[in-house]
Amino acid sequence: MKILLFGMNGQVGWELQRSLAPLGELVAVGHQGANGLCGDFSTPEALAKTVRDVAPNLIINAAAHTAVDKAEGEPALARAINTDAPAVLAREAKQLGALLVHYSTDYVFDGSGNTPRSEDAETAPLSVYGQTKLDGEQAIRSSGCRHLIFRTSWVYAARGGNFAKTMLKLASERDRLTIINDQHGAPTGADLLADVTAHAARMTLVNPALCGTYHLVAAGTTTWFGYARHVIEVARAKGLPIKVSADAIEPVATAAFPTAATRPLNSRLDTAKLQAAFGLKLPDWQPGVDRMLNEILSN
Ligand SMILES: NC(=O)c1ccc[n+]([C@@H]2O[C@H](COP(=O)([O-])OP(=O)(O)OC[C@H]3O[C@@H](n4cnc5c(N)ncnc54)[C@H](OP(=O)(O)O)[C@@H]3O)[C@@H](O)[C@H]2O)c1
Repeated sequence: MKILLFGMNGQVGWELQRSLAPLGELVAVGHQGANGLCGDFSTPEALAKTVRDVAPNLIINAAAHTAVDKAEGEPALARAINTDAPAVLAREAKQLGALLVHYSTDYVFDGSGNTPRSEDAETAPLSVYGQTKLDGEQAIRSSGCRHLIFRTSWVYAARGGNFAKTMLKLASERDRLTIINDQHGAPTGADLLADVTAHAARMTLVNPALCGTYHLVAAGTTTWFGYARHVIEVARAKGLPIKVSADAIEPVATAAFPTAATRPLNSRLDTAKLQAAFGLKLPDWQPGVDRMLNEILSN
């Protein structure tokens, strides 16, 4: 089997290089391209040639315009990367008979309410990022190609910058921290996403009835405040020089930190469909975060 991976250097793309390796011959392409293959999503039609040249059985798209605040100021670029390029990949996948795996986001929803949303819940993005990601999903669905779309949230990885690393730095420098406590979701490891992707893609290649849109996040729910407190307490227990005391971490509302893009307050996603379809049990968010902390704190 031949696999074509786009976005190889992102959080999820990096982990996919590991999890996809045993499935077949893997051709991985980043933003800058590789071996004469274009990987630049701002030129969607150039991607078509890459797909035709490689002629894969499985295409995995881990590239995206993920800078949600920046996207408000560059909607055309966000649309090219998040909507037009996935549409081209879907068209080429359909042509080839390949399976296309794509990632989407909790930002396709408006974040109202306080219960987990299922895959068929009404969408209503609040931001350019959310709208362009939703339009990318719809382009894939309407192309008629075989596809898996995984909507996820609050992705972290040991590699690169992340929320936990920022909290560790701030907690070692400051006496007090104020952290948003009215956005609810599940921190989800790029490693978990990559492992589930490999498993689900393999099953779907054998059984195309599994194609569709799925919610894929770690189990349980927290807020950025709860996430930060967890990270800081793990670091304190490991003997790291944490300056902020537990009672000097203050929960605040989203309004305290105005941003260009509006964030959904309720990012809870119901994963029952994915767990039933692929026979999986998604782990709680804490063990994955602890593992990532172990990795970054031992370096
Ligand atoms: N991060 C989250 O919290 C989150 C939450 C929900 C859903 N998701 C979705 O999950 C998927 C993976 O996200 P991630 O966290 O792994 O994102 P990420 O770490 O930001 O990686 C995105 C990748 O896309 C690449 N990219 C950006 N512009 C590009 C372009 N014009 N052409 C080609 N590649 C380009 C980036 O490459 P460069 O760095 O070289 O530009 C980067 O490698 C995305 O579909 C995202 O929408 C993420």
